[in-house]
Amino acid sequence: MTQSKPTRRDLIHGVARYAGLSGAFATMQALGFVADAGPYNGPPTASPQLGRGKRVIILGAGIAGLVAAWELRKAGFEVHVLEARHRPGGRVWTVRGGTVMNHTHIAPQRCEFGTGHYFNAGAARIPAAHHGVHAYCREFAIPLEVQVNINRDARFVSRNVRDGAPVQDRQVVNDVRGGVSELLLKALNKGALDDELTLEDRDRLGDFLMEYGALDEGGKYTGSDRLGFKVEPTVHGSPSEHIAPIPLGELIQEPQWAFLLGFGENIYQQATMLEPVGGIDAIPYAFAARLRREIRYGCQVTHMTKTETGVRMLYNQEDGTAGAMDADFCVCTLPFSVLRNVECDVSVPVQEVIDTMEYEGSNKVAWESERFWEREDRIYGGLSWIDSRCFMTWYPSYEFNAPRGVLVGTYNFEPVAHAFADQSLQEQFEESRSSVDRIHPGHGHLLQKPLAVNWEHVPHSLGSWASEGPHIDHDTAGMRAVLAGDGPIVFAGQHLSPIGAWMEAAIRSSHLAIEHVHARARAL
Ligand code: ALA
Repeated sequence: MTQSKPTRRDLIHGVARYAGLSGAFATMQALGFVADAGPYNGPPTASPQLGRGKRVIILGAGIAGLVAAWELRKAGFEVHVLEARHRPGGRVWTVRGGTVMNHTHIAPQRCEFGTGHYFNAGAARIPAAHHGVHAYCREFAIPLEVQVNINRDARFVSRNVRDGAPVQDRQVVNDVRGGVSELLLKALNKGALDDELTLEDRDRLGDFLMEYGALDEGGKYTGSDRLGFKVEPTVHGSPSEHIAPIPLGELIQEPQWAFLLGFGENIYQQATMLEPVGGIDAIPYAFAARLRREIRYGCQVTHMTKTETGVRMLYNQEDGTAGAMDADFCVCTLPFSVLRNVECDVSVPVQEVIDTMEYEGSNKVAWESERFWEREDRIYGGLSWIDSRCFMTWYPSYEFNAPRGVLVGTYNFEPVAHAFADQSLQEQFEESRSSVDRIHPGHGHLLQKPLAVNWEHVPHSLGSWASEGPHIDHDTAGMRAVLAGDGPIVFAGQHLSPIGAWMEAAIRSSHLAIEHVHARARAL
């Protein structure tokens, strides 16, 4: 499949879709499929007597499966997790030196990073708003550190502004604020808003804009000390000079910047952002360490059938033999992109959702490098943005000022991810390197030991996340059937939550599945 070159508008919508809440959220909430906003009540609980003598098979040891196993074991159930990979976590995956990355379309890559270096190939950040993730981090005492998501020293790069020279985030933020404030003040002073405001409020708003936009006494925006220095001050009397402003008329030549200025205002992208110290896989491994006996790795399910008393799973084991297991219930957390390749004994509406749910691609290209972005450009963590299909460069938030670090040179998603992943590894690396070189001119050659992850082609994931966005209607009879579960089979995973591509989505949907298992066990 080939894709035509995306337009700017496509890119904006692509980024907006990935970063934002689904439009279906309110509907889902109204239908009771997601918890109302409010205090986090934790997972459903039950007496350890409830599960006694009852067995649950959990498909997948990603976050949803691990949560289900952990909580259902607390309620006395005998749990068995079947996981096709040799590690827990699914798309919550940290890559370190020695890790082998497999794809379905390109040769395996072996990570050559030095000791202590890593990159989070999938999930990589934890918003403060994600109560469920924080609750499990507290339960397992997983140390977190701040992840710098939005950084005023990071850069915006567009061929439409300054001929493609990098512009600091602080300059775009403050020049847009100043330029818009100046225009609004002009309109106020001309009386253009007299129908909207009382005279007092017109004056108040005028004063407000002077301060907010850092306008001069004449109400003009001529730059300010918010922009930082072209010549830095040293001692009294030494020369210093502020960076000059960029006119609003030039900044608006890059339409994507309007979205990027709002990116960090999305409730799930706002400060404070966090990450586990040493890699995001601390979270799945904390569960897995406590579920050693319950998780079986290397088991790929082929058939999921209902029996008179519950369910039967057939699966292939690593040694080539087939396995079979019966249970009272199944919590199926496989992404539907994977589950549609399993023979499933489910109702027609449920099968239809499994077969048709859209998944998206997403790619990251990571490099080990000396930390030129800190040493020369004082960029400590955060994201720089570029007008190419490499989308963004993501700086490490671990071990600031260490000699070397891992830079995610490229992180992109649809509408460009599929075409990007269609290239050879060498082409992906070169595209990423030249994008970093446009953001940090003259430094691309310092990038070493590249690795690319193309989620659309990662076995056992086959996609980065289920599609969201206005074109997707999750408020369907089929989705209601999936969320209600099909007899002894209940479903969980990121794909069933309007929270989107976040660990929190997997946790919240797993809590619903746990509630269903409790209810079914009570009814036995
Ligand atoms: N939650 C993912 C991110 O923040 C999609 O990039």
